[in-house]
Amino acid sequence: MYKDDIMKKLIIEGGRELSGSVRIGGAKNSAVALIPATILTKGKCVIRNVPDISDVKILLEMMHELGSKITYKDEILTVDNKNVENVAISEEYASKIRASYYFMGALLGKFHHAEMSCPGGCVIGSRPIDFHIDAFKRMGAHIVENGGNYKMDAAELQGRDIFFDFPSVGATINVMFAAVLAKGKTRIINAAREPEIANVASFLNSMGARIMGAGSGTIEIDGVKELGNGEVDVIPDRIEAGTYLIIGALLGRDFKITDIVEEHIYSLISKLKDAGCNLKVEGDVITINKTKNLKAVNIKTTVYPGFPTDLGQPMSTFLTQCEGESSFEETIYENRLRHIPHLNNMGADIKAFDKTALIRGRTPLVGRKVKATDLRAGASMLVAGMIADGTTIVYNIEHLLRGYEKIVDKLNNVGANIRLIDE
Ligand code: EPZ
Repeated sequence: MYKDDIMKKLIIEGGRELSGSVRIGGAKNSAVALIPATILTKGKCVIRNVPDISDVKILLEMMHELGSKITYKDEILTVDNKNVENVAISEEYASKIRASYYFMGALLGKFHHAEMSCPGGCVIGSRPIDFHIDAFKRMGAHIVENGGNYKMDAAELQGRDIFFDFPSVGATINVMFAAVLAKGKTRIINAAREPEIANVASFLNSMGARIMGAGSGTIEIDGVKELGNGEVDVIPDRIEAGTYLIIGALLGRDFKITDIVEEHIYSLISKLKDAGCNLKVEGDVITINKTKNLKAVNIKTTVYPGFPTDLGQPMSTFLTQCEGESSFEETIYENRLRHIPHLNNMGADIKAFDKTALIRGRTPLVGRKVKATDLRAGASMLVAGMIADGTTIVYNIEHLLRGYEKIVDKLNNVGANIRLIDE
């Protein structure tokens, strides 16, 4: 995060009803892959619906370091990489954002050389990149790793069958990057199916790549000689949409969330309906009203189209308001329950064991001073503060600003009372 973000906090007055509509922005987890993907072509690229979030700002600075010519206005990015130099990505930037690993696949795929450090784990888990590295090696790259700094070279990249033990989102996208200009066919077996994968594949195909099956468990890529101009619309952010839907289920009065893709959040919609929520989907608009007498439901996060790990934390705040005992099991990361003690500090009754939490509701929450330990824990604290009695102060809020575009304005415009304070 930016050094000047480190002292940001939110002051939230709880219990305010929300009505009106919120527009969902472009998906963070697409944008952070689409931007490095432009390195693969000398052509010009246009990327529309790019969210105005700090992760995007950091990536644009990294692209600038490489010599990319970029304009960013009204959420439209134009990128001209004809003068891109393949210089090492500095540790200062690479360590700021997990998705910097996409520069590995893009630089290796385009220049057959990449040199950069890659951030180790973060608070939610160790987050290794062994699947990415093993795949690059299998395709012909020679990789030297020295204390988190990677040097990669390949005389040429050869299309291969790549099987993933786990359908990793990042590794699936990174192998697509390494494969689009490789010699021959690459097949990714047990590929991730998250909607962001198909968004990236459609962008690469608009440049002239030949990717088939993105969104399914098997993706085939026929390498081509070079790529041309590209364009793409970033898909709506399903995690931002889900977070607002959870807030609407607790505080909404005719609360509308627009620019959503229902299919991308079916898992959440299904669970909210099981809990008794009153919501209506009409095309790309969801209307939701707060519901009394919510019922306990069980959540188990898994890969798409299952319940997304990134919605587990905000959803656990929702479960504190459901009558009875809900269970919340995180199966993707080792350490994604760090928000639980802060929820209990506000009056929740949650017992956490390893990666499972038993949540007894309904417990009224009271405003307290709490901390955002990571991006989606920040979302959990925001939801808690909005339903709590009194004032909640959420520290370390720079995490939240990484992934939720203009979240304070969007919520205050529909009735919330949130102040973003620089210390
Ligand atoms: C992407 O991370 C998202 N980040 C994550 O969102 C999201 O939680 C995750 O996919 C799962 O959907 C971005 O897209 C920038 P994975 P990624 O590779 O690609 C293990 C958010 O809040 N693994 O699918 O890193 C890994 O440790 C963030 O927006 C390996 O063991 O996720 C994890 O347990 C958080 N070796 C599991 O797989 C590897 O080489 C899922 O990782 C790669 C991953």
